Amino acid sequence: MKKPLVLATGNPGKLNEMQPYLAGLDWELQLKPPELEIEETGDTFGANARLKASCVAEATGEWAVADDSGLAVEALGGAPGIYSARYGKTDADRISRLLTELAGRSDRDARFICAIAIARPDGTIALAVEGICPGRILEAPRGTGGFGYDPIFYVPEYDMTFAEMPLDIKQKCSHRGRAFQALLPQLGEIQ
Ligand code: IMP
Repeated sequence: MKKPLVLATGNPGKLNEMQPYLAGLDWELQLKPPELEIEETGDTFGANARLKASCVAEATGEWAVADDSGLAVEALGGAPGIYSARYGKTDADRISRLLTELAGRSDRDARFICAIAIARPDGTIALAVEGICPGRILEAPRGTGGFGYDPIFYVPEYDMTFAEMPLDIKQKCSHRGRAFQALLPQLGEIQ
């Protein structure tokens, strides 16, 4: 019988991207109860992923998986970092704030980071991994796919922004994809 695994995300863009990685496994994915809100008080992506996985596992009494991710821009000392989701009210606001802060700067290196943690039903952490995707912040958005900062995040290796990539390519090269690639071989062994 498949074991339930509760996804600790309320973000539909992330859910769409996470589901395919976990689909073929011996786990039955469930969404976290919508009333369960967890404050992200950690000061790293890893700390927040562990915190969310533990809280959801404890609250539901099931295994839980959580991710915490964001964009770190070198010239801004790693901002918006763990505040990526709170950098503005809407995706458009967040993009426009970032472009304003980088106006006139040629050093536009950035990286997307994704931490994933899996917690046992008692809240203890069974697995924790991290994936990174290096890129650059463009001066204007390009592409219509994806979510969040995708239209301004350019990946030189593929000569495309995240928003221009077909989903299967984003899944392969993104921070989330790389974190899942690290996680999946270990998933069969946890208990
Ligand atoms: P979280 O929900 O706390 O993990 O916040 C992540 C935030 O980082 C999201 O709301 C997005 O703004 C941004 N983000 C994370 N992953 C991606 C991605 O793959 N593309 C674009 N933006 C992302």
